[in-house]
Amino acid sequence: MQHSSFFKQKTIHIVAFRKTDRGIGFENKLLYRLPSDMQMFREYTRGHIVLMGRKTFESIGKALPNRINVVVSTTMLKQPADCILFRNIRAALCWCKNIHFMRDLYIIGGQELYKQIQPEFVLASEISDEHDSTACKPTDAFYPCNLGQYKRKILKENVQDIDQLSEKAVTYDFVLYYNRHV
Ligand SMILES: NC(=O)c1ccc[n+]([C@@H]2O[C@H](COP(=O)([O-])OP(=O)(O)OC[C@H]3O[C@@H](n4cnc5c(N)ncnc54)[C@H](OP(=O)(O)O)[C@@H]3O)[C@@H](O)[C@H]2O)c1
Repeated sequence: MQHSSFFKQKTIHIVAFRKTDRGIGFENKLLYRLPSDMQMFREYTRGHIVLMGRKTFESIGKALPNRINVVVSTTMLKQPADCILFRNIRAALCWCKNIHFMRDLYIIGGQELYKQIQPEFVLASEISDEHDSTACKPTDAFYPCNLGQYKRKILKENVQDIDQLSEKAVTYDFVLYYNRHV
C-alpha cells in the first residue's frame, strides 16, 4: 500500500467482485474488465509481490511486469518465465516474508487462494451491475472471505466505467477493509 512501512510486510487481498453475490469469475476468466480498476491494480501492486493460484496465473497468461510474481501449484511441470513457483502456500509465504520482507504481499486470487490466506487488508472494487443479473452472467468463482471482522472505508465512491467485456456501464466503489488491530 502507499503508506508502506519498511519493517513490516503487509498482506493484502486485492479483488474485484460483484456486490450482489461476490462473483469474481467464470470458466477461469474475469467477469468484468474495467480499465480504471486495472489501473488502480497496477498502481497499488507495482514494486510489490503478487501471489496467485495456478488457475489465475493461467488466466492472466504471463508474469505481471514490475512486480515479483509468485505462483502456487502442485501440478505445473515447470516454473513459468519471470515467476517463482511454489508447491505449497506455506513455502511461498515463508519465502515472501524472509526474502522480500520490505515489499507488501498482494494476494491476487483466485477463490481458492483468497480463502487460504487471512489478510490484514482487503482492497475491493465492489461492482454494482444493473444490467446483468447473476442468472444472465454465469459465475463459478466467488470471493470467499467473511469481511465482517474488518472496518470498512470507501476510498473512491461511485466510480463510473465501461465494462470492456459487456460494453455496458457499471459503477463501483473502491473499498478498503482493515483489521481493527492494525
Ligand atoms: N475478480 C477478481 O478480482 C479475480 C482475481 C483473480 C482471479 N479471479 C477469477 O478467479 C477464478 C480462479 O479462481 P480458482 O479458485 O478457480 O483458482 P486459483 O485460486 O486461481 O488457483 C487454484 C489452483 O492454485 C493451486 N493451489 C491452490 N492452493 C494451493 C496450495 N495450498 N498449494 C499448492 N497449490 C495450490 C492449485 O493448482 P494445481 O491444481 O496446479 O495444484 C489450484 O488448482 C477465475 O475465474 C479468475 O478469473 C478473479
